Formats: sequence, structure tokens, C-alpha cells
Amino acid sequence: MINIAVIGAGYVGLTTASCFASMGHRVVCADIDQDRIAALNEGQVPIVEAGLSELVRSGLEGGLLTFVVGAAAAVADCEFAYLCVPTPQGPDGSADLSYIRSVAAEIGPLLPTEAVVVNKSTVPVGSTRVVEEVLGRDDIKVVSNPEFLREGSAVHDFLNPDRVVIGSADQAAAFRVASLFDPLRAHLLITDPASAETIKYASNAFLAAKVSFVNAIANVCEAVGADVSDVIMGMSYDRRIGSEFMKPGPGFGGSCFPKDTTALIRIAEDAGYDFGLLRGVIEVNVAQFERVVEKVEAAAGGSVDGITIAAWGLAFKARTDDLRMSPALEVIGRLRARGARVQAYDPAVGPRPADHALDGIEVCADAYGACDGAAVLVVLTEWDDFRRADFTKVADLLTRPLRVVDARNLLDPAEMRRYGFQYTGIGR
Ligand code: UDX
Ligand code: UDX
Repeated sequence: MINIAVIGAGYVGLTTASCFASMGHRVVCADIDQDRIAALNEGQVPIVEAGLSELVRSGLEGGLLTFVVGAAAAVADCEFAYLCVPTPQGPDGSADLSYIRSVAAEIGPLLPTEAVVVNKSTVPVGSTRVVEEVLGRDDIKVVSNPEFLREGSAVHDFLNPDRVVIGSADQAAAFRVASLFDPLRAHLLITDPASAETIKYASNAFLAAKVSFVNAIANVCEAVGADVSDVIMGMSYDRRIGSEFMKPGPGFGGSCFPKDTTALIRIAEDAGYDFGLLRGVIEVNVAQFERVVEKVEAAAGGSVDGITIAAWGLAFKARTDDLRMSPALEVIGRLRARGARVQAYDPAVGPRPADHALDGIEVCADAYGACDGAAVLVVLTEWDDFRRADFTKVADLLTRPLRVVDARNLLDPAEMRRYGFQYTGIGR
């Protein structure tokens, strides 16, 4: 039984800690947020992730998972210390390593000899060395083990990884970390730290590029009168292109793509390479938010000033409650700036008075409440609840003429037109 300390009990840390415990390791998970730790020790999981609550509870009941306040309390007899604290985007676009540094400074003097510190957080190339310097211990190796977890399927992605990537200058340390994943029997790549850190950024940047490319193609389809759904289907049969991350939408968001694409541009720039292609990916993405707003304005007759809009969706994508850099909030913010009044509903996001991200938005109790008296319905997050809505009821609640802007191409245009809606999609 191997002792692992996990620092940070967020989407990444909590998933890492509970999955490692489910694999038979003894895990102590730490966080600075006392309320979060108290709730977790009661088996209450503060985030929406399929399967996570069950793993946390079985870890607690089996005695393999415990939660403590503060990193110092977690590392006493650990063989591995996983860093899963945020690396937010700094004001200049680069990744802010202040949390990583402060945790490393805190645990440095306390780590048992020969313990291995593992960077799970997304950190810029070269951060492994930064952590080693802060730790100030030549008996402690630092290894990069980037995460590839999608929110909403983080547990599945951790336990069924396409690959485990380990970056280390010390082979023995790399093999020790690799052994933690033996039960998963996954593809394993052991490389140097810079390559491992670059794999993470390059993977996210490539996926973001796919999304921006398909959004740009959707805009071309609108201009030339093509149907983007058929265009994408025709492309995706080519195995080199595939069908994943080929869904047009309001633009990408979340706690990773926006931060990681911006950080990679800075990493490249600081190293002397101008990553123009990736700047284009971000430019297309920001323009896509605006494009959806313009579609709503057109549907409203040219202006949304003084108009009530029904917004379906607040989270940055379906199957999560995460509002960080949500495209839905980007679009809603722009509509409100143009004078619109917005009534919104999201199955996973209730009113959050503490969360200023929802200030000024009327968060309704259900999808129909959001439509009551609204002039235009805009679909911003691809929840199945919206696909299955009763559109006769929706039609009775909206004002005439009936107008829907489907920013996720979630609904069936022909069916919506049969209900009497003017339907606007993305690229079709
Ligand atoms: C975040 C980023 O989203 C991800 O890209 C990065 O790789 C890791 O950090 P996430 O788990 O989503 O991952 O962050 P979040 O859900 O905000 O959780 C971070 C947790 O760390 C919070 O619970 C916070 O209280 C805790 N924390 C933060 C510490 O325990 N110590 C700190 O010094 C800072
Ligand atoms: C992403 C990466 O997928 C994951 O590997 C990494 O570890 C963390 O960042 P996540 O941010 O949870 O995961 O969300 P993801 O499912 O990648 O979606 C990111 C954004 O792209 C969302 O706003 C989503 O709506 C959008 N998207 C995704 C599209 O618009 N179209 C698609 O086809 C796929």
C-alpha cells in the first residue's frame, strides 16, 4: 500500500485522490478551504462529476482516503506528493505559479526523504525545475504527470486514460510514479519534464484549434449555403480527422482551454517563437461569442435593447456545473451590455448569490420559466434536458413571432419550424 498526498481538492485534486484510493493506494487529500474539507469528510462532494461522490464515500469508508486542512498535514509519511492547485492565467497571460510555489515552500521541509513531488497541475514548460528550487532538497525529485481529464467525465478519464505521461530527469523517480498506474494497464510515455509539460499544452491547444476550425467552417457554410452538419459528417469519416471535438458552438470555454492556449502563446513567445496559428485559434473563438450575439440581435429584429431573452444554459458545457470562462456567460454578458434583460436556466447551476458571475441574470427554476414573456430563446449549453423540452409549452410562453437561436445545433431545425419557430443555427 503506497502513501500518496494530494494537495488541492478541486476538480483535478479530488478526482486524482479518490481514483488513487479506489486503486488501493492510501491517500491524504489536503485543501486550504476548511469548509470544503469539512464537507468532504462528511462525504459531501462540492462539484458535479459522474461517479466522484461514490468514489469519495467508498474511499472514506474503506479508510484509504482522508481529507485534511493544509498541505503540511498531508505529507507526513507520503511517498508521493501530488500538486493539484490552480495555475490561473496571470494578468500578462502567463500561468501564475504562486500557489504551486507556496505549497512547495510549505511541504519542502516536511517531506520524508526520497519522497517524489508530482506536478499534476498544468504548469508552463520548465516548472519542474522551479518546484525543485523552491523545495530546496536534493533528495526530493520532481516529476511532471499532466492530467487529461475532461470535466463531466473526469473519473472515467482518470481510470481509462488514453495515455499516462510522465516527465522526469530521474529515471528511478519516473518508474516509481509510473508504478502507481499499473492497475490501469494504460499506454505509458516516460520522457523529460519539458516534453511532458509541452504534451499537455500542445494537446489542449490542438483540441481548441479543432473547435475553432469547425466554428470557422460553420461560418463558411453560412456564407456559401452549405450545411455544416453534413460537411462535418463528410470530414469525420476520414480517420485522420475523426468526429471528436468537431461540434460547432458558441466558442470554447472552461478552466483550461482559454488559460492553456494563452499560456502556450506566452511560453512560445518567451522562448522566441511567435505562435501566430494559436493566436488565430483564440481570435476565432472570441469572434464566435460575438457572432452568436449578432444572431440573437438579428432574431430580435436588429436590437436587443429593452428586449427579454431566454437563455438555456449557463455552464461552459453540458454535464458540469462549472461557470469558469463559460461561453454562455460570455454571450449573456454581451447581450446584457446591449440592453437585453436575460432570464436563464441551467439544470446544474442554481442561483448563486455568492458567485458574482451570475449578477444581473435572472436565474429561473426551470427551462420554461426562463421562456416566460421572452422574445428570443437562445440555446447556449448542450444539455439533453433542452433537446427533450415540450416546445408546445415553450411556444405558449414566448412572445410572437417565435424565434430560437440554437448556438449548439442541439435542436432539429425541421421540427422547430413545425412548431412555428424561426430557427437560426450555427452553420446551417
Ligand atoms: C485547477 C486548474 O483548473 C487546472 O488547469 C490545473 O491543472 C489545476 O488547478 P481545478 O481542480 O479545476 O484545477 O481547480 P479548482 O477546482 O479551482 O480547485 C483548486 C483547489 O485547490 C481549491 O479547492 C483550492 O481551495 C485549493 N487550493 C488552492 C489549495 O488547497 N491550496 C492553494 O494554495 C491554492
Ligand atoms: C479540456 C480537455 O478536453 C482535457 O483533456 C483537459 O485535461 C482539460 O481541458 P474540459 O475543459 O473539461 O477539458 O472541456 P472540453 O470537453 O475539452 O471542452 C472545452 C470547451 O470546448 C467547452 O466549452 C466545450 O463546449 C467546447 N467544445 C468541445 C466545443 O465547442 N465543441 C466540441 O466539439 C468540443
